Amino acid sequence: MDTRQHGGSTWWKEGVIYQIYPRSFADANGDGVGDLRGIVAHLDYLNDGSADSLGVDGIWLSPIYPSPSYDFGYDVSDYHDVDPVFGTLADFDLLVAEAHKRGLRIILDLVMNHTSHLHPWFVESRSSRDNPKRHWYIWRDRPNNWQSVFGGSAWEWDQVTRQYYLHSFLAQQPDLNWRNPEVQEALMAEVRFWLDRGVDGFRLDVANFFFKDDQFRDNPFHLGGLRGYDRQRHVYDKDRPETHRALKAFRRILDGYPERMSVGEIGTEDPVVAASYLGDGQDELHLAFNFTFTHCGWDARAFHGAIAAWERALPAKGWPCYVLSNHDVTRHYSRYAAGGQGDARARIAAALLLTLRGTPFLYYGEEIGMRNVRVPRREIQDPPGKRYWPFYRGRDGCRTPMQWDSGQGAGFGAGVPWLRLGPDYQRVNVAAQSRDPNSLLSFYRKLIWHRKASPALRRGSYRALIEKPVDSLAYLRETPEQSVLVCLNFSSRLTRVDLSAASLPAEEWRVLLTSAARPGEKVKGTQFALDPCEALILEAR
Ligand code: GLC
Repeated sequence: MDTRQHGGSTWWKEGVIYQIYPRSFADANGDGVGDLRGIVAHLDYLNDGSADSLGVDGIWLSPIYPSPSYDFGYDVSDYHDVDPVFGTLADFDLLVAEAHKRGLRIILDLVMNHTSHLHPWFVESRSSRDNPKRHWYIWRDRPNNWQSVFGGSAWEWDQVTRQYYLHSFLAQQPDLNWRNPEVQEALMAEVRFWLDRGVDGFRLDVANFFFKDDQFRDNPFHLGGLRGYDRQRHVYDKDRPETHRALKAFRRILDGYPERMSVGEIGTEDPVVAASYLGDGQDELHLAFNFTFTHCGWDARAFHGAIAAWERALPAKGWPCYVLSNHDVTRHYSRYAAGGQGDARARIAAALLLTLRGTPFLYYGEEIGMRNVRVPRREIQDPPGKRYWPFYRGRDGCRTPMQWDSGQGAGFGAGVPWLRLGPDYQRVNVAAQSRDPNSLLSFYRKLIWHRKASPALRRGSYRALIEKPVDSLAYLRETPEQSVLVCLNFSSRLTRVDLSAASLPAEEWRVLLTSAARPGEKVKGTQFALDPCEALILEAR
């Protein structure tokens, strides 16, 4: 029985979401590729209701649908089934049931900008110019200057019907024609299929790409980088106004079901554009990723600026969300590991992510400090990686198998894993860190369970206390019943933060959590001495 309620629930605001790249989490059948049964076997690790588990509230699964895997599931050939490599629909139902038993929500990745070139819709569409599905995709006699995100022209010549089709990503990922109402109807039927099956929400792949300019105007030139794609301003091939209308219709479908949510991948550097996909805060997407943290160097000022810009950009009823790592970017442990401060910095990054106002998204393995792995060129699997050779190594390095223990295969599975393991797995793994109360994993667990117990951290207001940060960030999270003060020292020096001008709500504070060995449980006054790389979380007494 579905006991979820209409309206009112805020699990997607107050909860912590954990992204799983299914190929790489756990392999139950020993074929070297992760699968749904593997995930089921590790649900207790994610949340068994006790503080010995990680304590997350939801899982976002990267695509699990049948796919020829030119882009590992982001090229879908059937929207309403499970790829045999991951299992069956029955395995999926089991996963949903077992997750729900533990209070864990399941979020699916919806890839609606494009399908696989092997999806029956495209197979029909390309079969002849007068096929009824011809206009389900975007066909033109002549290409314009639009570029594929993965390199080269976004147009592919089709020899059979002698026209070009549009692909914003790989040629094996033709873009759907959202201007065709039949396409929208067909996609929304797929959405309902999963909602009826009990999924709690969707992550929308490249949600700002759905509509393109109806006149196919050339994008203007822009000096943004070396790649053709970065040398254009993308005014005509994404962020078109019609997309908002379609997402509002999508939201109405979600709102017809209890407690469902959506989070959009909005590829933009502009937080104002990302925030626009929340509509008035209640009528479009529930959340929009803003990827500024994935570009921030190790610099308190940069983070401060990114948070301020995001808070400013959001509509009054909108809700922030934050992410440090995902399956497309270098893992943040490696981005920040310089100077031998890897673990210390990972703790600060975690404390930031999990104490800001907004929904935190974790990426599998970050809780144990998994590094980006250097994959030798001959082993590279990510197709865009091959395409940019020799400059770019693709995204395999952030997708290596989860490191569960120090045994053979790192506890990922009995077979040879599809991607090589991190060379450090004998040291960096769940089993070892579970035993160590001072490990990064133990710190993540404490952070998440503190957050769960703290109304201020879950839903309180956010006030930055240092206007121009140099080494440290300090901010307050407040609800009427609780004030929490967070101080993060990004430097490897002892630092004193002076908050005497900040009109703090208390004179005495209790230490909720610190990443340093701090004597005593109380802190008094308005000046706080922070250890090198200390993350200090205080509660007003
Ligand atoms: C998104 C996904 C990425 C994929 C692309 C095309 O950016 O995160 O992994 O390659 O869309 O679907």
